[in-house]
Amino acid sequence: MLNLILFGPPGAGKGTQSEKILSQYGLKHISTGDLLRAERSAGTDLGNKANDFISKGELVPDAVVIGMVKNYMTENVDANGFIFDGFPRTIAQAEALDSMLQEFNTEISIVLGLEVEEDELVKRLLLRGETSGRADDQNEETIRNRFQEYLNKTLPIQNYYSEKNKYNGVVGIGDIDEIFSQLCSHLDKF
Ligand code: C5P
Ligand code: MG
Repeated sequence: MLNLILFGPPGAGKGTQSEKILSQYGLKHISTGDLLRAERSAGTDLGNKANDFISKGELVPDAVVIGMVKNYMTENVDANGFIFDGFPRTIAQAEALDSMLQEFNTEISIVLGLEVEEDELVKRLLLRGETSGRADDQNEETIRNRFQEYLNKTLPIQNYYSEKNKYNGVVGIGDIDEIFSQLCSHLDKF
């Protein structure tokens, strides 16, 4: 199995690059943000609770997100591998993911980080907000709060995987296909 974490702050291009990677490598895409928004649209209990966090740009509690990922993986045990997009967001989620993968007799193959600075992210997300229909993309304060959550809770994961020699950063600014080929040059080693 090839299990990839596509890492990076909100607006770094994780969703865009995931689409390209999954068509080339035949992996299953897990976007926890998309799963949470689907729960919200379906009006489930989980979705309603998550909405309070999402609308403020805060992270949903670990147990909720971990449970969702576990369900998704259990339903897709025959996959060639997974792209984790927007997950893990905390060290606790990273540790839970490692033990889930161990249960499936596999592990994280590589972590690819899309590196983009804050002002560029804010610009991109506000632009995306014009068409995405996402309220959390339309308000600069919410966007900056999402970035703060990223710095405080998510960025430490980079070290967690660097220590395991799994983290590789890629410049996330420039031509989409150029960035994709950088990602491929790492993935083709597997
Ligand atoms: O990943 P994405 O940017 O689509 O996530 C949107 C929002 O969903 C985040 O700002 C956060 O509120 C919530 N989320 C979360 N935990 C995750 C993924 C998403 O709390 N692992
Ligand atoms: Mg996304």
